[in-house]
Parts: sequence; structure tokens; C-alpha cells
Amino acid sequence: MTEIPGEDIPGWFDFADLYDLMVEKAAPGDTMVEVGVFLGRSLVYLASIAEAKKLNIVAVDNFCGSGNNEDVSKVVREHGGSILNAFTENLKRYGIYDRVTIYAGDSAGTAEGFRDGSFQFVFVDADHSYEAVKKDIAAWLPKIKSGGYIGGHDYAEHSEGVKKAVDEIFGSNVKLVSNQCWLVEVG
Ligand SMILES: C[S@@+](CC[C@H](N)C(=O)[O-])C[C@H]1O[C@@H](n2cnc3c(N)ncnc32)[C@H](O)[C@@H]1O
Repeated sequence: MTEIPGEDIPGWFDFADLYDLMVEKAAPGDTMVEVGVFLGRSLVYLASIAEAKKLNIVAVDNFCGSGNNEDVSKVVREHGGSILNAFTENLKRYGIYDRVTIYAGDSAGTAEGFRDGSFQFVFVDADHSYEAVKKDIAAWLPKIKSGGYIGGHDYAEHSEGVKKAVDEIFGSNVKLVSNQCWLVEVG
């Protein structure tokens, strides 16, 4: 356990201020979704700070990578093809396992199972290719309620697919927050 929840878990989490802001804007009982949780670094942080407001947290990942991120694929191989157990162990270690609903499956396919307007915030951090980001946004956007937010990681030069997809869909409505995160308020 670390002073900042999740800090000892490998991953790519440099957007704590975005999660702080999203929790601040949420109302008790709201549900937040992180798509692309890897080993739980950012999810553990979100679930930990969300507890005080009694927010529901949903974690979505196929737990085997998309094949185009060698850093993720290497860790998946080291865990015998799935990082689901490693993820759940990290949640248990931080005492948040019972407060997170986990969906092990494809991002867009999982979104189809929810009713429109279900969520206050969806954070997209899965497959960073242009095609996948467009598909993920198309799948998750209707699931967000009016006044909620959608955002994601790696709106950056080294992830041109993310930036291109997000700009095409949202244009000037995109706000840049935290380190390389994009955020859009859903009307
Ligand atoms: C960059 S990592 C996420 C990093 C994480 N948020 C953190 O705190 O370190 C991307 C994750 O997305 C998952 N992923 C990739 N493509 C996916 C897809 N199509 N559906 C569901 N999960 C996917 C991978 O398995 C991986 O765990």
C-alpha cells in the first residue's frame, strides 16, 4: 500500500487531477467507467477517491491487450495470456475489490450491454489506434447521461490515432486537461 493509492502498481497514470475533478463534479450514486484498466494503477486511484462520495466504479478490459501495444502484450505474456488475476489481486490488496464491478471483455462490445444515459463519466484508455478510438467513442458516448463527461488518455503526438479520432468526432468541444488527456462535456 502506498500513500497515493495504486502508486506501486505498474502502468501509465499521470492524470490524477482529472480524476479528482471528475469525482468533485459527480453526485453521490453516480457511476464512472474506466475502459482499459491494465493492472489497476489508475482504477485503484479512482475507486479510492470515489469512496467518500459513494460513487459506483466500473472497470472494463479484455485483460489480454490489443496486440498493438508491445508494453501491454509483454506483461500479458508474462502472466500467461491474461492479466485479470493480477488486476483483481491489486484491487484486493487496496481493499476495493468489492466496490468495483469488473467486465472482462471487448470495450465496444461491453458498452452495448448498458442502457443509454447510464454513466456520469467514461474514461477511454484501451486500444489507442484511430479505428479503435472511434469505435470506442461511438459505443460509449450514448451511455453517458446529459451533463456527464467522456475523456481519455494519450491525446498526444505519439498517439496520433487518438487525437485524430477525438478531433474528428468532437472538434472544438475538446478540452485538454491533466497530462495529455482529452475531455468533453456531454450535452
Ligand atoms: C494503456 S493500458 C491502460 C493503462 C491503465 N489505465 C493504467 O492505469 O495504467 C490499455 C489497456 O487496454 C486494454 N485493451 C486494449 N484493447 C482493448 C479492447 N478492445 N477492449 C478492452 N480492453 C482493451 C489492454 O488490455 C490494456 O490493459
